[in-house]
Amino acid sequence: MTFEHASTPGSEKGVAGQRPHGVAGQRPHGAQPGNGKHPDNRYTHGHEKAVLASHAQRTAQTCAAPLLTHLRPGMRLLDVGFGPGTITLDLAQAVAPGEVIGIENTEQPIATARRNARERADTRTSFLHADVMDLPFENDSFDVVHAHQVLQHLADPAGALRQMARVCRPGGLVAVRDADYAAMSWYPELPALRRWRSLYREIAHANQAEPDAGRHLRSWAHAAGLTELTITSSNFCYATTPECAAWGESQARRVDGEAFRSQASRLGVEEAAVTAIVDAWRAWGSSPDAFFLIPNTELLARVA
Ligand SMILES: C[S@@+](CC[C@H](N)C(=O)[O-])C[C@H]1O[C@@H](n2cnc3c(N)ncnc32)[C@H](O)[C@@H]1O
Repeated sequence: MTFEHASTPGSEKGVAGQRPHGVAGQRPHGAQPGNGKHPDNRYTHGHEKAVLASHAQRTAQTCAAPLLTHLRPGMRLLDVGFGPGTITLDLAQAVAPGEVIGIENTEQPIATARRNARERADTRTSFLHADVMDLPFENDSFDVVHAHQVLQHLADPAGALRQMARVCRPGGLVAVRDADYAAMSWYPELPALRRWRSLYREIAHANQAEPDAGRHLRSWAHAAGLTELTITSSNFCYATTPECAAWGESQARRVDGEAFRSQASRLGVEEAAVTAIVDAWRAWGSSPDAFFLIPNTELLARVA
């Protein structure tokens, strides 16, 4: 764990809204201009059923533990890229009766998240359509701004962090957690799963995103002008027969889905090669020795 006070000059807070493209003059990851406001990259996983179902297993306890210890009743919290909304609703419970807003830059997951809120009888949490690169909130309007597994999908993660810091009050917290694809490890080491990782990383890079986000969080925070950082790490680990069967099946369905297949095809990958990856995920999930480790980096930034 590190706790640091880096010497980045000045605060970015005052200029956040005016500089949506990250570090002045730089475009991280070779991002090209999108709609003129911010680079127009695609969400690699898509919002198919298998993706939302897998993300719906996530809880604040397993995915936002370092943040939970800082949450207090009455805090106002923004959750960026809420997906199925399960983590958002857990965070809402932790800050009740405080207001919680989740945002997504696409309509697709909103109905699922609202249904999950109704099932929990949560009437305080709003799920809205907005883009992290252009947050429709006043400066300093939240106590906490959170994003789980979102920065890895963005062409300009430092610009996103700058926006998140802009809407967070001085003394408040920006909290993010992202995985690192290149650091994932598993057993058995089926060749088709090695192909899955290289293909996923190729697709993400083609989407101008950074799949190895975990190792970049500290540098992105520095580029966003965030100076008071606490960085930790935690894993997703699948190591029992039911966990591995579920993870293998969930990954098989994702790879077999339209989002992955169409993106693979655009890179010139044959249908049969994708099917071999789908089969490999099922074979991996049914191995009695299966094991899968996903390292994640957690960043808590205290806003100046
Ligand atoms: C991997 S999912 C994580 C969902 C949720 N945070 C979780 O962990 O279960 C990433 C989410 O970020 C959303 N997202 C991607 N780009 C975004 C943007 N520019 N603004 C807001 N949300 C975005 C995607 O639509 C997707 O639902």
